[in-house]
Amino acid sequence: MLDLSTVRSVLSDEYDLAPSATLANEMQDIYARMDRVVSPPDWAIYAPYVRAINVLKKQRNAVILGHNYMTPEIFHGVSDFVGDSLQLAMKASEVEEDVIVQAGVHFMAETSKILSPQKIVLMPDMQAGCSLAESITAEGIDEMRVKYPGAPVVSYVNTTAEVKAGSDICCTSSNAVQIVNAMDSDTVIMTPDQYLAQNVANESHKNVVYWPGSCIVHEQYTPQDLREFREWNPGTRLIAHPECPPDVVAEADFSGSTSGIIKYVHDEKPERAMLITECSMASNIADELPEVDFVGPCNMCPYMKKITLEKILFVLHTMEGQVEVAEDVAVKARKSVQAMIDLSRKLGL
Ligand code: 13P
Ligand code: SF4
Repeated sequence: MLDLSTVRSVLSDEYDLAPSATLANEMQDIYARMDRVVSPPDWAIYAPYVRAINVLKKQRNAVILGHNYMTPEIFHGVSDFVGDSLQLAMKASEVEEDVIVQAGVHFMAETSKILSPQKIVLMPDMQAGCSLAESITAEGIDEMRVKYPGAPVVSYVNTTAEVKAGSDICCTSSNAVQIVNAMDSDTVIMTPDQYLAQNVANESHKNVVYWPGSCIVHEQYTPQDLREFREWNPGTRLIAHPECPPDVVAEADFSGSTSGIIKYVHDEKPERAMLITECSMASNIADELPEVDFVGPCNMCPYMKKITLEKILFVLHTMEGQVEVAEDVAVKARKSVQAMIDLSRKLGL
């Protein structure tokens, strides 16, 4: 486990990371992407880290892949490429730099390593897991195959490399319906997210059977929350991620992956919107959509929030936190992930 006092003592020996209003002022161009959600005193704290990371990543020939759930100072300040799980996986398969820093959770870093085994993949905090990835093991996949003989296994990318290796193909929330529909079988096994599977089943002609996992961020919402919110705030557009339970998705005006949500808000520009997903989503698009008032409660992902500027700088400096996947597992897992990427490209997703 990362010891923060060690991290701080290593960094303070090498870098001047004291809050600086002068530096914050010099870096106004970056701050302008997040000034609606990050206060000037907070920016004065972040600016020295952002500068140090951006200098160091060039020296290391590194690229930072940031998921849409990263906090704004990571998302806008240091990420070279941002996106949803599918976009990040596609990008990881084509990066030219020697080092990938995964500003996201562990399964995303493993996916990057599976797709780019010759690269160094750095995880700023190995404890940044995922309740979905932890809900199933390779034995769980075997159990499902025994229960539903002959049915293909479609596993969410939110799984370990071993689970991907035991699956036929992967999916993400932006291609799950299309991937399931493309399977050559009436019954399709989906793991590990029961709610994503039920939402896919509602849009697909397949008999979808599923594993009972769930996301601790999205399972907390209830249809009652959405009904009450609508009653108190008429006219608010409710936009839900498909990891939410189906009765929550049914109450929403739109459901989509994190990039689907961003596209919807850009296209529709509702006066007021509530994003029924992780908190950073609204923060990251608030500046580019000044006409939209983002309101309402949101839920934090404690795993995503383990990633900080300080830890990104530390792993780039020390090159600690390298993600490894055993070759025999990686070979099989790559087939499942690559099958998803190839099918997504073919379908123009
Ligand atoms: P997407 O970005 O693919 O929608 O996934 C959301 C998520 O929960 C990732 O952990
Ligand atoms: Fe996992 Fe949910 Fe966090 Fe995404 S938001 S990393 S699915 S726990």
